Amino acid sequence: MPMAVKKPKLNILITAGGTREYIDPVRFLSNASSGRMGYALARAAVRAGHKVTLIAAPTALRPPVKARILSAVTSEDMFKAVRSEFGRCDCLIMAAAVSDYAPVKKEKAKIKKGKGKLTLQLKPTQDILAWAGSHKKKGQILVGFALEDRCLKKNAERKLKDKNLDLIVANTPAAIAAKSSAVWIKGKDSPWQTHKNLSKIQTAARIIKKITNP
Ligand code: CTP
Repeated sequence: MPMAVKKPKLNILITAGGTREYIDPVRFLSNASSGRMGYALARAAVRAGHKVTLIAAPTALRPPVKARILSAVTSEDMFKAVRSEFGRCDCLIMAAAVSDYAPVKKEKAKIKKGKGKLTLQLKPTQDILAWAGSHKKKGQILVGFALEDRCLKKNAERKLKDKNLDLIVANTPAAIAAKSSAVWIKGKDSPWQTHKNLSKIQTAARIIKKITNP
């Protein structure tokens, strides 16, 4: 009788949702991320028997059962949460749409309407994935996402290399609110795989499988 091969159980850290960068106490810059991809990944990882910590930016989604949930509102909160969890994880999947810029200053009081133009000054945020890519001391597996509206493979491959990732999942803006969409997946040592019409649940299951069977 063949011996059953036990699949490794990993500590998987997943981020989800769009961060909010506050301008004043009631206004913020954000993006159209629903958080569905990250939540689907958390569910797929739990289903595959892994231990899951989900760092979630605000979403309207029901938290997956059996995942440990940490909440993060801003990109700074998300960076702090990833930084404190990263040393304990075997794999980080950055599915969150982290804002690339944040206001230079958050006003203490609500900005009053004026007659003229209002100019906001923005500063780049910490690239969490790039930080993780340069701190993979324990050999963590790093998975990133790339949203590309042109030169998809070329741009995504650049992110894979520059951020020292193990796997990149690329899609187009058409995927943001869609139930199913085209997805391109590439491992650092494997060729592109194109999936023309996958739901977020199917995409999540493939990513989780690829982590243990690259
Ligand atoms: N990411 C991150 N920290 C940021 C911004 C993005 O960790 N401050 C992560 C996202 O979670 C995602 C990947 O990086 O996994 C996306 O890479 P990025 O270079 O930010 O992609 P885009 O925002 O699409 O970049 P660009 O706008 O330059 O194409």
